[in-house]
Amino acid sequence: MQTINTIKNLAAVLKHWKQAGLSIAFVPTMGNLHAGHLKLVAEAKAKADKVVVSIFVNPTQFGIGEDFDSYPRTEAQDAKQLAAQEVDILFLPSVAEMYHSNAKTTVSVAGISALHCGLSRPGHFDGVSTVVCKLFNMVQPDMAFFGEKDFQQLAVIRTMVRDLNIPVKIHAVATIRESDGLAMSSRNGYLTPEQRKIAPQLYQALCAAKEAVLAENQAFAQIERQQRQNLESAGFAVDYFSICRAEDLLPAKQNDNELVILAAAKLGKPRLIDNIQFKIKAL
Ligand code: PAJ
Repeated sequence: MQTINTIKNLAAVLKHWKQAGLSIAFVPTMGNLHAGHLKLVAEAKAKADKVVVSIFVNPTQFGIGEDFDSYPRTEAQDAKQLAAQEVDILFLPSVAEMYHSNAKTTVSVAGISALHCGLSRPGHFDGVSTVVCKLFNMVQPDMAFFGEKDFQQLAVIRTMVRDLNIPVKIHAVATIRESDGLAMSSRNGYLTPEQRKIAPQLYQALCAAKEAVLAENQAFAQIERQQRQNLESAGFAVDYFSICRAEDLLPAKQNDNELVILAAAKLGKPRLIDNIQFKIKAL
């Protein structure tokens, strides 16, 4: 594996690959890699000739008072894991390499970026869509891999790629969980041992809400309220718990078929997010 820090050096390698007609898969990350990230890498390896992974803690997607400064940076350990998976390039740019000091352009996906996480993290998805668009321009991949764990992020990226005719195929990868159901996340490391025991209840609430939807004897608003209360009693500060249409993440109506329940809640320091996707009737 080659570690590359500059766009220029990256372009030099890509040129050879393109000339040789090799397909390129890309996995963007912010590092502090866990089994969820590594699953994305494994799927990328299975589908393309060459794999590029980026590690960049992107300042523009963190709000004021959020954890940009304290976000775990574990590049040496991450690089070892990526080398073991035979990744071809680790792209590790600095903030100065990624952003011009006088940068004026933002990629903003209207509508979907303002919902859910966008309400409590204004500007977050503009930071994500801008950095992913820039990374796509730098890496010029044929395909890119994103986790369903960040379901709204995936929807934002898909919309951006569609609207800007970006020639990158987006692959979604199912959420990797700990054995007790907690979705793997770099932010789980902020949990105290006591909070870590409570944390799986977020996924349990999503599963219970799914069962309640499938039982078809309660209004969605009532199911949301019930699970919110359960989580608040367990010690979470719930940001949102919403039964939505998988297609556009708007509130689901009783006759919608493809649903996703999205949840975000703070448990002490970290804000945890998770979701569950399902169909009411298998068509
Ligand atoms: P990061 O949180 O590092 O996640 C990188 C990728 O790994 C994302 O596509 C995310 O959905 C996926 N991922 C994280 N946890 C996962 C899990 N438990 N199972 C499956 N996939 C998981 O998401 C970002 O970085 C950034 O916003 C980024 C897209 C890199 C832009 O800066």
